Amino acid sequence: MLENIRQIHNPIIRTFTTASIAFSAVTILSGILLGFTHPKDKSASQIGVYSSLLGTGCGAIFGLLLTSNSSQQKAKQQICDTKIWKDWRNFVVVRKVKESEEITSFYLQSEDKEEIPNFQPGQFLTIKLDIPGQDKPVIRTYSLSDYPEPCNYYRLSIKREPAPKGFDVPPGVASNFMHDYIREGSVIPAKAPNGKFVLDVNKPMTAVLISNGVGITPMISMAKAATRLNPNRSIWFVHGTRDGQFHAFRDEVLEITQQNPNLNVHFRYSRPLLKDEGKYHSMGYVDAALIKELVQQEAEYFLCGSPTFMQSIMDGLKESGVPGNRILFESFGKPMKVASEKITAAVNIGNDVEQAEIVFTKSGKTLNWKQGDGSILEFAEANKISPPFSCRVGICGTCMCKIRGGEVAYQEEPSAEIDEGSVLICVSQPGSSRVVLDI
Ligand SMILES: Cc1cc2nc3c(=O)[nH]c(=O)nc-3n(C[C@H](O)[C@H](O)[C@H](O)COP(=O)(O)OP(=O)(O)OC[C@H]3O[C@@H](n4cnc5c(N)ncnc54)[C@H](O)[C@@H]3O)c2cc1C
Ligand code: FES
Repeated sequence: MLENIRQIHNPIIRTFTTASIAFSAVTILSGILLGFTHPKDKSASQIGVYSSLLGTGCGAIFGLLLTSNSSQQKAKQQICDTKIWKDWRNFVVVRKVKESEEITSFYLQSEDKEEIPNFQPGQFLTIKLDIPGQDKPVIRTYSLSDYPEPCNYYRLSIKREPAPKGFDVPPGVASNFMHDYIREGSVIPAKAPNGKFVLDVNKPMTAVLISNGVGITPMISMAKAATRLNPNRSIWFVHGTRDGQFHAFRDEVLEITQQNPNLNVHFRYSRPLLKDEGKYHSMGYVDAALIKELVQQEAEYFLCGSPTFMQSIMDGLKESGVPGNRILFESFGKPMKVASEKITAAVNIGNDVEQAEIVFTKSGKTLNWKQGDGSILEFAEANKISPPFSCRVGICGTCMCKIRGGEVAYQEEPSAEIDEGSVLICVSQPGSSRVVLDI
């Protein structure tokens, strides 16, 4: 009822409504009470009238207070709403910090100096880079690796992506550009924070944050948010890396444990150096056996790291009876082969369409796709059409486009929110013999 009253925006109507409710309630109550206690006393009815009037007055004051309270809430809400932006907003790099051999952090503040919205721990930012030699802006997605209070900057922590060993291909375009050319003062356009890989700090169940390599980034944000907002929640922070030189954020994570007695940390090094003695808790790779050994209670698990690492832990957790819906993961690159139960249920596996005509309206091309040509994004690229993309795994929403005819079939369950009448082309193929896309 209180919420319903709060929702009446007109303050006069809200005050009047509250007063009327109070009048009716007090009249009925005092009538019943006096009827029982003083059945023949005339002055008792006067007391009833006075209490009803008093009730009405109190109701009116309460209604007024609710008005101001509600207005404050509305004003606060409006501040939050105006802080969220659509499309791109310019950010200035105000700090650049080397965190490890291969990871560097970039602190971003809005160029317009206006407030920026808070975000949910685990969310990411999509950025756009104009890189010389690239025929179009390069769009990439990076997890927010901090949880500042107040939220007056965003931090991205980026691993320099080398070329894979044994392949004659260029190293990562965006990550190397960020490391080599982005400096304090550089301006980078970014979209508003997004993503569903988030920690609900208020859940009572233990949360186990498991990462390797640069997968640590969303986990720091989660550990910090839990420490600040609900330090009663038991958290395990399990991180695997090669050695001390590749271990980013070691001191920062240990500092959080000083503030949160319910945060347990375990660092595992696969190839520790002699000088790393005392910096890690165990040797080897983080695997499901280690997690089982450390975490004895019921828990939900957050995974972020290399695909093989996440796959093996997910398989191990499932084998030991952890339900799929309690295992959440974020993939930075290639999709995982088998995901959680939730995903298996939602995937449109077995696309019956063998071949299809795809009309790319903006490019003015009509092309024949057949099984084996891959996703619509891959097919478009192979035909010299360059739609925007970032994650290529259905997470960031960058490749979303309007569908004007036909339908698509998804191979992976997209976790990005998809607008009505739109599709993600990085994880879909034609689902009908003719598909018309606004590309
Ligand atoms: C939700 C999300 C969050 C993320 N968060 C982070 C984060 O916090 N930190 C972070 O560092 N990254 C993060 N990433 C990954 C990030 O978005 C980029 O994918 C990463 O930085 C690599 O981009 P790049 O442009 O440097 O590499 P790309 O140019 O995209 O290349 C990727 C790899 O492919 C190789 N390659 C190039 N050409 C070829 C070819 N022809 N054939 C085969 N291989 C080739 C490159 O050498 C490189 O190793 C995140 C991704 C997602 C989806
Ligand atoms: S490129 Fe990220 S959802 Fe398709």
